[in-house]
Amino acid sequence: MSDDLHIPVLLEETVKVLSPKAGDKYLDLTAGYGGHAGEIIKVIGDESLATLVDRDAYAVKRLKKKFPKARVIQSDFVGALEILIKEGEKFDIVLADLGVSSVQLDQADRGFGFQNNSELDMRMDRSQNLSAKDVLNNYREDDLARILKDYGDEPRAKRIASLICDSRPLSTTGELEAVVKRIYPGYSKKNPATRTFQAIRIEVNDEIGQLKQVLDLVFSVLEREARLAIITFHSLEDGIVKKFFKENSGKYDGVVKDLKALKSSDTIDSVRNLRSRSAILRSVIYENKHNTK
Ligand SMILES: C[S@@+](CC[C@H](N)C(=O)[O-])C[C@H]1O[C@@H](n2cnc3c(N)ncnc32)[C@H](O)[C@@H]1O
Repeated sequence: MSDDLHIPVLLEETVKVLSPKAGDKYLDLTAGYGGHAGEIIKVIGDESLATLVDRDAYAVKRLKKKFPKARVIQSDFVGALEILIKEGEKFDIVLADLGVSSVQLDQADRGFGFQNNSELDMRMDRSQNLSAKDVLNNYREDDLARILKDYGDEPRAKRIASLICDSRPLSTTGELEAVVKRIYPGYSKKNPATRTFQAIRIEVNDEIGQLKQVLDLVFSVLEREARLAIITFHSLEDGIVKKFFKENSGKYDGVVKDLKALKSSDTIDSVRNLRSRSAILRSVIYENKHNTK
């Protein structure tokens, strides 16, 4: 499988805000297929200055092959940050490009999408216990409705949650898609199951919990004048990042300079890469006065 199957979103814009320089230390918390990493490593000039994290074993395998001199950590990014903090590591550039990769969505047996009818799975880390099947077959109806509403912006969340419970047991992505389509007979535009699949995926991978925890930890690994960029794909995630950056301007014995957010929909990127339509890039510069290089 070629690595260019995942097109990195807002690539030029991300490199610009991270403004890499030769010799910078780089931490990529969601390295995926190394699209962003490749561009940044070209400028910093030495692969061994890069630490690349991903919780997906397949992505990690590809990263090790593509960047043999980089440090590659297979872990969720909260666990990786805990290790790096213990080691006293600091970085000049940190990137988190959240969500799933196109490769995960396209791999038939991963159960992330309805394009291929497969087992309901959706785990980025396949060694974790909780899968989409567990969520759909075991969660209470009101919890499912909340997840569909909060993580999928699903207007018919209650009706879908109720029909999911009535249709149990669900085992395949095709069955879940069929449930949602029964609530939307005669739909014409985008497949109405898209929002439900996104919501269940966010729950399975605890994406909101991971994001909140990473924000609490990430400032501990920032070098003086480090640049931190986070790309989100959902309004709930973006709201969390926006609020956190705003609240932390001036904290941590230093000054966090909150840079202007960039929306993919305002750039040519959204035309080149349909999956990036909802992406928002937020970044800060961390001017920590007490941290000397
Ligand atoms: C949007 S892709 C990143 C693509 C990457 N920037 C590139 O250019 O190839 C997101 C990646 O982050 C990983 N990921 C998502 N949440 C994670 C988490 N909490 N911890 C570690 N990896 C995570 C996914 O497995 C996926 O490979």
